[in-house]
Amino acid sequence: MFIRSPTTIALLAASWSLGVQAISKVTRSGRYLYTDDGNRFYIRGIAYQEQGQVDENDPNNPFLEPSSFTDPLVDGNACSRDLSFLQQLNVNTIRVYSVDSTKNHDSCMKTFSDAGIYTIIDLALPLNGSIDRTSPSWSTNLLDQYTNTINTFSKYDNVLAYNVGNEVVVQNGTAVAPYVKAAARDIKAYLKSQSSSALVGYAAIDGSPNWRDPLANFLSCDPSGQNNGDTAIDIYGLNNYEWCGDSNFQSAYAGTNGDYAGYNVVAYFSEFGCITQPPRLWTEVAALFSSQMTDIWSGGIAFSYFPARSAQGEFGMVTIDGNNVQTSDDFDRLKTQYGQVSPPNSPSSSSASSSFPACPTQNDTFAASTTLPPTPNEAACQCLESTLSCQFTPQTANYSAVVGELINVACNLLGQQGGSCNDIGGDGSTGTYGRISGCDPTIKTSFVMSEFFELNNRNPESCRFAGNGTVNPLAPSGVSAANSAASSCISNPSATFTPSATGGSNSASGSGSGNNGSGGDNGARALMGGDAVVGVVGVVVVGVLSGVWTML
Ligand SMILES: *[C@@H]1O[C@H](CO)[C@@H](O)[C@H](O)[C@H]1NC(C)=O
Ligand SMILES: *[C@@H]1O[C@H](CO)[C@@H](O)[C@H](O)[C@H]1NC(C)=O
Ligand SMILES: *[C@@H]1O[C@H](CO)[C@@H](O)[C@H](O)[C@H]1NC(C)=O
Ligand SMILES: *[C@@H]1O[C@H](CO)[C@@H](O)[C@H](O)[C@H]1NC(C)=O
Ligand SMILES: *[C@@H]1O[C@H](CO)[C@@H](O)[C@H](O)[C@H]1NC(C)=O
Ligand SMILES: *[C@@H]1O[C@H](CO)[C@@H](O)[C@H](O)[C@H]1NC(C)=O
Repeated sequence: MFIRSPTTIALLAASWSLGVQAISKVTRSGRYLYTDDGNRFYIRGIAYQEQGQVDENDPNNPFLEPSSFTDPLVDGNACSRDLSFLQQLNVNTIRVYSVDSTKNHDSCMKTFSDAGIYTIIDLALPLNGSIDRTSPSWSTNLLDQYTNTINTFSKYDNVLAYNVGNEVVVQNGTAVAPYVKAAARDIKAYLKSQSSSALVGYAAIDGSPNWRDPLANFLSCDPSGQNNGDTAIDIYGLNNYEWCGDSNFQSAYAGTNGDYAGYNVVAYFSEFGCITQPPRLWTEVAALFSSQMTDIWSGGIAFSYFPARSAQGEFGMVTIDGNNVQTSDDFDRLKTQYGQVSPPNSPSSSSASSSFPACPTQNDTFAASTTLPPTPNEAACQCLESTLSCQFTPQTANYSAVVGELINVACNLLGQQGGSCNDIGGDGSTGTYGRISGCDPTIKTSFVMSEFFELNNRNPESCRFAGNGTVNPLAPSGVSAANSAASSCISNPSATFTPSATGGSNSASGSGSGNNGSGGDNGARALMGGDAVVGVVGVVVVGVLSGVWTML
């Protein structure tokens, strides 16, 4: 029985009187997107985030990744200011690279929803809020950060997808892929547990097909060979900058197009727009939305609404001074091109079938194992931390940089005494993950400090670590107490499960989280090597130097 309450009627009346219709849900069926009425949905999008700070002189930052971010969905006035320009561009989707889950996004999200504009939200943050491509882990602090963002955005009806990473996996760094797939698996399970229909995505850097293509297939495959999508992304984004000037399908896209011909989930260009040869004519839009490509692609995200700088130059559709928005010739050209697209409304959703093929095999150019890291286990990690004999007690709120250095120091010392840091590390090419690898970096630090402390017969000096360590008087005794604690707290080191939505307690408790808010990454791009454009955020570091894990 359906009872319409007076409140419902009042709400309906209000929205009718404003002429606002609820935005349609968009769902994936096979490799395509459909709105509720059964029509195919194409992303006519634009990247929407002001560029964060980029230190171009930092040799450790070859990707020009930003170290800060401004959440573009917090300032309702700015969103209202930009709305008419986004509408002029005929945009139906914006991509946002980093958001602050502690802020209120109601005004911006409503402004865009009412205008029929969807959002693709990247869950990573700059610096310590993303999977670090040089020393990867899929750990409680990241899982908490991702689910906190989802909790904040779950009440909005215009979140199309959440990206679990952007350009994390690069050439010669493909062994990081299992960490990304583990993130997709856990976020997918979490969304399902919340009855969310938002899609799980990843945005890939372009590159040689010999690793780019197996990566795409790896992220959407089923390692169990049972045609099961539990570890598969729903939507694959390719950051593609192949088309410049007034190119044509054959010379710019035919190769890439062919490579994705048999792909099993939704694909789109998560960034596009020439970056090497201004002016940008945006004639690629016609190709991308033509029947030459729509069997494979569901549109794309032009980069970028706001000005952004890379080694190649400046990009952006507008310049903004306070409330004043100045459009560019690029803006006019993109507006014309987006205004003209009329992609085919086929195939129909009923004819779209889902399949999740077996995973690509490892070889010299694609190193990822199909054995994925386990689901990070907050309770197990907290159990461990409270039991450890020498605890990391940071003297500064800005401890994530300290953590990296301390882990290096402690691992070196351990190594000299015949110990190892294998418990906190992992290797995505062999599919081996240390028992503690899913814990927060601060707990990893406490763990290796405790092992060193115990190896040295609990000499208090060996827990000093220049003032960063404190002996835990409540810890069990013994020369291998840390090891025993790991065994008892982390009983099944390869377990996967659905992360729970406990809000507060799930999130970064105690000294647990090395991720305190922070950062974002957005918009810095550089062209690296021949065909790869690197971008936004990606990654980063909890301060842990690479190479540390394998030392002995
Ligand atoms: C990366 O891989 C390519 C081949 O795919 C190789 O030529 C190159 O030397 C490698 N670079 C590094 C830094 O290992
Ligand atoms: C590795 O396999 C992929 C397909 O999964 C292929 O594209 C690539 O060329 C192969 N690399 C080598 C070195 O054979
Ligand atoms: C993290 O945030 C909490 C709550 O605001 C604060 O107490 C703590 O000092 C912060 N830690 C860092 C590393 O900023
Ligand atoms: C935190 O530490 C990093 C690395 O030492 C430094 O660059 C940064 O400025 C520090 N941030 C704050 C807020 O102190
Ligand atoms: C803690 O460790 C860091 C990194 O090794 C070091 O710079 C610092 O001096 C240590 N002591 C304190 C009190 O932070
Ligand atoms: C991690 O986030 C905190 C909180 O914003 C920040 O102060 C810190 O600098 C970040 N870590 C690094 C390595 O920058």
